[in-house]
Amino acid sequence: MTGGSASADISAALRPTLPAWAEVTPDRVAHIERVAHLVATWADRMGIPDSERNRWLKAVWLHDALRDASPATLGEWASSSSGPVELWHGPAAAARAKAEGELDRGVLDAVRYHSLGLAEWDMVGRVLYCADYLEPGRTFDVAARAELAALFPRDVPGVIRAVARARLSHLARSGWPLPEPMVRFWNSLSVASP
Ligand SMILES: [Fe+2]
Ligand SMILES: [Fe+2]
Repeated sequence: MTGGSASADISAALRPTLPAWAEVTPDRVAHIERVAHLVATWADRMGIPDSERNRWLKAVWLHDALRDASPATLGEWASSSSGPVELWHGPAAAARAKAEGELDRGVLDAVRYHSLGLAEWDMVGRVLYCADYLEPGRTFDVAARAELAALFPRDVPGVIRAVARARLSHLARSGWPLPEPMVRFWNSLSVASP
């Protein structure tokens, strides 16, 4: 097998792809591809059926699709969002995907709340939340995040708690109030596994 066909196999394995309405820089696309690659790796290791793997990847490709859109565009699609503008791109992408015909509630909730967490998430939201944080292109806590990424297929609840703890701590240290969905998500994890 040539290198060319090997890379074609990899991109085929990462379908679906970016929506036509995405507004993303090349660096953003590279991030999304790394998240998709990690999610595809987890799905393979966990023996996830293709239909569920496709839901995971659909959420990955949608989650940052408007991350580089203008505040005006974000406000148009996420008019009810409050808080810092960095948190608007998830709700905006979910609203846009829904307007384009996406019906899967789990996928839409994964995209909408990917920066915060959501107590009611199914597996799609939990996978995206972890992969977005653990993808190897981020430059902080490289070794610890790589360990968690490798552990995910064997200990999903443990890795979700570790990722949520890190993300909450970061936001608390920054001085922002913790958004209500984030607090409820954290409490749901703590209650489920003390
Ligand atoms: Fe994001
Ligand atoms: Fe992301």
